Amino acid sequence: MTTPFQDPKLRQRGRASVDFLAGMAAASGPVRARVDAAIAEKVASPDALPEDLDERLAHMDALLADSPAYPVQQLLGDWHGRMHGRISAEAFEEVEGDLAPLFEAAEQGPATLRLDPDLKAPDYWDGVHFHRTTGGWEGHTHMGYIHGEIIHKKLVGRFFPGGIFQQRRDVAAMAPRESYRRILDMGCSSGHFTTALAETYPNAQIVGVDLSARMLEHAWRTANANGWNWQLSQQAAEATDFENESFDLVASYIILHEMPAHAICAVFAEAFRLLEPGGDMIMSDVTRYADMDRLAVWKADRGAMFGGEPHWRESASLDLEQVAREAGFVDVTTKGPYPYVIQGRKPEA
Ligand SMILES: C[S@@+](CC[C@H](N)C(=O)[O-])C[C@H]1O[C@@H](n2cnc3c(N)ncnc32)[C@H](O)[C@@H]1O
Repeated sequence: MTTPFQDPKLRQRGRASVDFLAGMAAASGPVRARVDAAIAEKVASPDALPEDLDERLAHMDALLADSPAYPVQQLLGDWHGRMHGRISAEAFEEVEGDLAPLFEAAEQGPATLRLDPDLKAPDYWDGVHFHRTTGGWEGHTHMGYIHGEIIHKKLVGRFFPGGIFQQRRDVAAMAPRESYRRILDMGCSSGHFTTALAETYPNAQIVGVDLSARMLEHAWRTANANGWNWQLSQQAAEATDFENESFDLVASYIILHEMPAHAICAVFAEAFRLLEPGGDMIMSDVTRYADMDRLAVWKADRGAMFGGEPHWRESASLDLEQVAREAGFVDVTTKGPYPYVIQGRKPEA
């Protein structure tokens, strides 16, 4: 559902800049095709590429050194990475005044927001400029809105295969039961997967945690504007203050690739602690490197480098099935390739 304060009408300048950025992403297709053609000429088989990923990156750079399209592709990726946050923030600032009364109205409602100004965020998150957005998740007073409504809906959502919101609804619907009582969304961010959970399980109490106050503020306004009684709080997913066994479903959508391996293991352990016996876990993330050939891994790894994803490689290299089993989950199943969805159940006591 889209409420009046969502989906802003951008001014001409902001709209043109955002459209230019989206158009540039679409127009880079032919450049990519030329790079792919050069690769097809030079790489006999993905298996022939070096096993070590750093070596593979250097090897591919050397191999493609005489391809005129390759530096252009790098330039476009680099520019897009650097500029998308800034362009989206500037487009927002042009309409900020129009939105202010709608923001204020969305601060009334049934949802609750608990921020923790004393929270010591983990080093792997704190000060990291994820997606190369200046300041990362906290880079603007209204970063939640900028990310959720402009970057996601007016940029990424326009060219993401399968639709970024449909994917969230599909993952929410994969949980095994028809209904749940209390659902935790770990890393709820600006509330897009949380919305899918709320719409799929309308009778459940929805609870969301995230490290980012700015993201949570937007999720909170979205919930209020829709009349949803979400309980949101600023906490690390791996160390929440909820009591043992307080949920029957613990879920997450595409947060794990923003964490190093030790934090991912801690997230699964926390999910296990928080579930009641028989409760369900469903986590989704990017395609595992183990499920890709060496060429596809090189592309993903290079994309993550340009895209400001410092933990992607470590996370995508992890065997999440093993992590889930070690945390205590049973009946562990996975489905890929993207999003990679892993499910499990906490055994009955
Ligand atoms: C890619 S976004 C998640 C997307 C979101 N689930 C959705 O559907 O749009 C990653 C989010 O995870 C949050 N995050 C990263 N590490 C976290 C942690 N350890 N605990 C809680 N939130 C975390 C970030 O602050 C960010 O808001």
